Amino acid sequence: RGRSSFLIVANRLPVDRVGEGTWRRSPGGLVTAIAPVLQRREGAWIGWPGSPDERLDPFDHDGMHLIPVPLSASEVELYYEGFSNATLWPLYHDVVAPPVYSRVLWDAYRTVNERFARAAAEEAAENAVVWIQDYQLQLVPAMLRELRPDLRIGFFLHIPFPPGELFYQLPWRRELLEGLLGADLVGFQRPGGASNFIRLCRRLLGLQHQKNEIHLEDGRVVRAAAFPISVDFGEFDSLVRQPHIVERAKEIRSELGDPECVLLGVDRLDYTKGIGQRLKAFGELLREGSIKPGEAAFVQIATPSRERVEEYMRLRDSIELQVGRINGEQGELGMQPVQYMHQSYGRDELAALYLAADVMVVTPLRDGMNLVAKEYISCRHDLRGALVLSEFAGAADELRQAFLVNPYDIDGLKRAMLAAMRATPHDLSRRMRSLRRRISTYDVDRWAKDFLADLES
Ligand code: UDP
Ligand code: G6P
Repeated sequence: RGRSSFLIVANRLPVDRVGEGTWRRSPGGLVTAIAPVLQRREGAWIGWPGSPDERLDPFDHDGMHLIPVPLSASEVELYYEGFSNATLWPLYHDVVAPPVYSRVLWDAYRTVNERFARAAAEEAAENAVVWIQDYQLQLVPAMLRELRPDLRIGFFLHIPFPPGELFYQLPWRRELLEGLLGADLVGFQRPGGASNFIRLCRRLLGLQHQKNEIHLEDGRVVRAAAFPISVDFGEFDSLVRQPHIVERAKEIRSELGDPECVLLGVDRLDYTKGIGQRLKAFGELLREGSIKPGEAAFVQIATPSRERVEEYMRLRDSIELQVGRINGEQGELGMQPVQYMHQSYGRDELAALYLAADVMVVTPLRDGMNLVAKEYISCRHDLRGALVLSEFAGAADELRQAFLVNPYDIDGLKRAMLAAMRATPHDLSRRMRSLRRRISTYDVDRWAKDFLADLES
């Protein structure tokens, strides 16, 4: 196998080890979106295999060539749990949790970014296209350009890019901007992210720009633009037409006691997702009698995530306390209004859940895009089902026919949940038809094509 002319560089490989030599798809929106892109192109994926001190040779999985980059236990703690997920993640998500600023974490971030850049420089063929992903690797574009000026380098940020008011807090704000400017094209989820970036390049680095083109001192031009990410609409659409999924969806409803209404939340257990707010709203609706006991079941899938980061531990405790209270106070023997699952699910089971749910509740306090919302829509070819969607998810830009909510406004959230539960079939199908039109034309393939066409132009 020669060197690759198309390369994905991401913090994680798209697989997690589940046993000796067996792997399964790793969690989160990035992997969901990029894996099908790589499967369609001959190329390789450079990333961390997901556990500390794991040294592996490159291997093939599910039509992808994977090149592992090892992280030591201390790098996992300082670079991954630390700078990536205790500094950048909360800072870029509206500081919904307080970011940690520490020089030790920053040093580890730089060291690990350097390692990824070297691995990419070694693997890339002459003039290859290298597509670097997400906030964990923002220094890689410049480091890679330094090593390999012949490459075409793209960067896509899957999470929000904050306004100056927040970004200014970061002690290493200039270094991060300079890192990103190593790319030829920097992609964001929303136009606001791109304009925040351009404005910061002007204010912090004194760089001139024309529209979305930033002019560097050495004459190079870097473009910044929005490319809202999407899902594989066709795959979900055909999956949910298969008899075993339809059967499983029926089974799920009957396991829940055949309530009139099934509400569903599917999220990594993350404090940006607004899980507490939606449970609070649901609990109050039950307590006040707006929803009768047995009328509705709320299924919350909360996939384990970043479990050694303190804010995530705190969140888990608080959500589990809340679920226990609601079930303790509003449940009956053999009937719990909230079914809480702290587990990770595969594609088939998720598709069956989407199909079984009358109301999908997606209420992040801030989210780059939110693929779960788009997956739900892709599954509802029956034109039934309602989507309650936070205004603060990137997906809200496109999905105007959802029941849009401000998740901080608990009364508003209650009204939207009730409206979604009580909507007429006519209203639901009108909304769903328009939502599906958008996702079916702007699917993940289109997203990748748009980005790569722009990068290669
Ligand atoms: N997901 C999954 N199993 C689970 C929960 C979620 O495969 O148990 C997938 C889900 O289908 C979606 C992705 O993880 O494709 C989550 O992406 P999203 O953009 O909604 O949120 P993120 O996790 O990236 O913040
Ligand atoms: C979000 C981020 C991804 C990340 C995923 C899962 O989608 O944008 O970069 O991979 O969450 O998080 P994890 O920390 O488990 O990789």
